Amino acid sequence: MSVLRRLLLGLIGLALVGSIGWSSVHRPEQVTILMPAPFADATAEQVERFNADHRGRIHLNVTRGPRDTESISDLAISSLLLGAPPFDALLVDVTWLPKYVAAEWLQPLDPWFDNDDIASLVPGARLGNSVEGELYRWPFGADVGLLYWRKDLMPEPPQTPQELIQLARRLTDAGDVNEGFVWQGRQYEGLSCDFVEFLSAFGGSWLDPATGAPQLDSAAARATARWMQELIRSGASPLAVSNYAEPETLQAFKAGDAALMRNWPYAWAELQSDSSAVRGNVGVTTMVAEPGGNPAATLGSWGFSLLRSSAHQQATAEAIRQLTSLEAQRERFLAQGYTPTATSLFQDPELLKTSPVLPQLEEALSIAVPRPITPLYAQMSDLLQRQLSGVLTGDREPDEAMERLQGATITLLRSAGGKA
Ligand code: GLC
Repeated sequence: MSVLRRLLLGLIGLALVGSIGWSSVHRPEQVTILMPAPFADATAEQVERFNADHRGRIHLNVTRGPRDTESISDLAISSLLLGAPPFDALLVDVTWLPKYVAAEWLQPLDPWFDNDDIASLVPGARLGNSVEGELYRWPFGADVGLLYWRKDLMPEPPQTPQELIQLARRLTDAGDVNEGFVWQGRQYEGLSCDFVEFLSAFGGSWLDPATGAPQLDSAAARATARWMQELIRSGASPLAVSNYAEPETLQAFKAGDAALMRNWPYAWAELQSDSSAVRGNVGVTTMVAEPGGNPAATLGSWGFSLLRSSAHQQATAEAIRQLTSLEAQRERFLAQGYTPTATSLFQDPELLKTSPVLPQLEEALSIAVPRPITPLYAQMSDLLQRQLSGVLTGDREPDEAMERLQGATITLLRSAGGKA
């Protein structure tokens, strides 16, 4: 090689090293968060603002995942199992946490959120973020099941399961609405959420609170399954609910086709929009309950969890803090109707003016009931959905379905070494 050529190569090498060195110093730290698509859309502007505020230092990327909790959890778990997930944080549904913590995928958030931060949350938003005293999730918004009712069709909402059936039937028989009571009857996680509320209404619980043993063949659980079937058989709910998820339910109620709806708080903003046929005619309360039952509202909600594998923990925590700040919560509530988590915002005059139902949301959050807190939750819920779905389509008798469900749940817990 000629001297000149060597010199030239040397110079090129130097230039390359120099440019890599320069860009690694100046390239912002890349942070990636996986979110279900609706939440990715809801935060798009806030992410842009975060990136503008941190220009040259941190760049936040959001990966839009599937909407349904099962699908996005499958996606996250597949990449976590492969070992090098392309994410620094995940938006995590409240039911995923025990499994993700048991698998040691998550990093405790205690260095970035202290007791004052926790004390600023409404009680319902404090649930489901910690495992064995360690904080692993910071809530993005509060979420809890609600009963929406039509003020123009009834002077007050029904109080008991039987009242609900009678009222829904009266209104459908009279032709006032086509669909009576709409809720989430499709075979997916929404069905489990509705079941938790209905079961509580009859005084039951999925697992015995004291022993953790399944209670799915109790008198209350059987009565719940019978009532769910009766809703459809009696015509109080259309057969179509056995294929409804949240969007179909909201669509029917918003179009003025239904008298009562079970859904989450986000529905309120949509019902007040210009395209809503029921704007101004909607009341919000919690699910009906038998006199001996407990009014309950299923605890929902998504929150940010930091992955242990992330090489950008500090930068990711900064992004999580900004996306969950008071300002971000207020904006999302006003623009999209996502319920805030900070107690102070529930008393905020501007928010109360936009949404006079905030006090009802706060009240529902105070009676929020979590789904079973176990790493086996996804499998338990799957068993429940299969049996209940058969009940709703009329393929299975409620008592028989609940007995089978109890047996299958015990087998699952035993095979995993859990309590049964
Ligand atoms: C809502 C809730 C979530 C629940 C899901 C079911 O997104 O926040 O906890 O699992 O609905 O569809």
